[in-house]
Amino acid sequence: MYPVVMEQGSKAKSVGGPEMRVTVAGVELASPVIAASGTFGYGVEFEEIVSFERIGAFVSKGLSSEPMAGNPSPRIIETASGMMNAIGLQNMGVRAFVEEKMPRLRKMQGAVVIANVFGFTVRDCVEVIEVLNDAPGIALYELNASCPNTSHGGMVFGTDPKLLEDLVRQTERVSARPLMVKLSPNVTSMAQMAKVAESAGAQALSLVNTFLAMAIDPETRRPRIANVTGGLSGPAIKPIAVRMVYEAARAVKIPVVGMGGILRAEDVVEFLLAGATAVQAGTASYADPRAVENIATGLKRWCVSHGVERVASLTGAVQL
Ligand SMILES: Cc1cc2nc3c(=O)[nH]c(=O)nc-3n(C[C@H](O)[C@H](O)[C@H](O)COP(=O)(O)O)c2cc1C
Repeated sequence: MYPVVMEQGSKAKSVGGPEMRVTVAGVELASPVIAASGTFGYGVEFEEIVSFERIGAFVSKGLSSEPMAGNPSPRIIETASGMMNAIGLQNMGVRAFVEEKMPRLRKMQGAVVIANVFGFTVRDCVEVIEVLNDAPGIALYELNASCPNTSHGGMVFGTDPKLLEDLVRQTERVSARPLMVKLSPNVTSMAQMAKVAESAGAQALSLVNTFLAMAIDPETRRPRIANVTGGLSGPAIKPIAVRMVYEAARAVKIPVVGMGGILRAEDVVEFLLAGATAVQAGTASYADPRAVENIATGLKRWCVSHGVERVASLTGAVQL
């Protein structure tokens, strides 16, 4: 527990400060603020930087059945109020994660581990989950549905209702832990995709992943990213992400974890009011590696100064 500044005029009464705990798919988190996948490494890199007791959880880099080298450079560029990346899901592979990173993570005070899973076929995803099932110390799985399915001509799982349903149904069946499905924003109806994932067995949803984007250098006439296209993240996407979280949260009963451009406490409040139970921050960690902790601390202060005794009471409380 850290000291809470009780501001004058605050309505908060409890001596220990506001109740910041939230529950996502049966997993209790000390704060609704989570570090997003791909922007927080395997967690261990942040051991000396972030106090894990003060954040809700962190999501690992996406894990595949085999190690992946990712795309050639340049693969990250800055854009107006955001960034574009085409890292290409580079990762050490699920077995190396379990053998080399999990032993350390299990010893880290307060670290709640969410393992991010992806694959290019349903079978790949099932394999990753089966390996993770045998590793103690993981709270939750986040299934990245923004990946192309090579068995279906590269169609992205999360953009086709049938592919999404099949993926969620088959992975949920083998999952020994609660399954949170991370939806792609590159769809026409977020409500439809949210409902498909829920009815196929998802216990929580997270959204949004990055928006498909492109940037061209007018001088060279070449794409700024070697992969030609990439994913847009950061504050530039926040209003679209808030709208999608609002639509998804109204369409389902399971908890929604919102993200897209969160930099500070007020951004978190926006997502909670739109219907999110918890949030993730990704791009923010690129500007400041302590961002996630600072946002969590700022959110608690915001609750104090606004007389909010339970952060969970903000969920879906937008006044229309
Ligand atoms: C460099 C980078 C790498 C990412 N890698 C992953 C990944 O491996 N798996 C995943 O599900 N999302 C990945 N994401 C998406 C983020 O987790 C998040 O959904 C997105 O960036 C929107 O949040 P933000 O605006 O706070 O960054 C990545 C994002 C960035 C910027």
